[in-house]
Amino acid sequence: MDRLIDTPHIVELPKMPDARGNLSFIEQCRHVPFRIQRVYWIYDVPGGEGRCGHAYRTGEEFIVALSGSFDVKVDDGVAETVFTLNRSYRGLYVPAGYWRTIDDFSTNSVAMVLSSTAYDEDDYIRDYNQYLKFRDE
Ligand code: TYD
Repeated sequence: MDRLIDTPHIVELPKMPDARGNLSFIEQCRHVPFRIQRVYWIYDVPGGEGRCGHAYRTGEEFIVALSGSFDVKVDDGVAETVFTLNRSYRGLYVPAGYWRTIDDFSTNSVAMVLSSTAYDEDDYIRDYNQYLKFRDE
């Protein structure tokens, strides 16, 4: 069964340029295609570090580099695509069912993640072989 009904893609966010500092914003169901149930952020990551890969069975995510840069690798079990995020007016939509890894954080980078679900460990697939089985179910 093909569980992947949408593909990861970059979304350009509104940007209000201003000499006093630029402003961008996100509205649910407009810039992200889901209702936002949770926001978390990853920070104080030593330069060059990365986070483990995992997939969510149902959770969708929208990832923004609020500061600095990092790479999001998205893998559907066949091919991997790398998205470098380094602008705070651009986000990456990751549909449910993709294996995703975030790495190569720059020093002082901040990754903000909007999620379609509350935190639920049961929604995680943390083993890549188990992920491949999930994809084939
Ligand atoms: P996790 O998603 O496992 O991060 P990574 O795969 O990059 O290591 O999260 C790390 C820890 O934080 C884990 O113990 C679960 C906890 N956590 C929450 O309690 N709530 C959350 O919303 C998230 C994202 C993680």
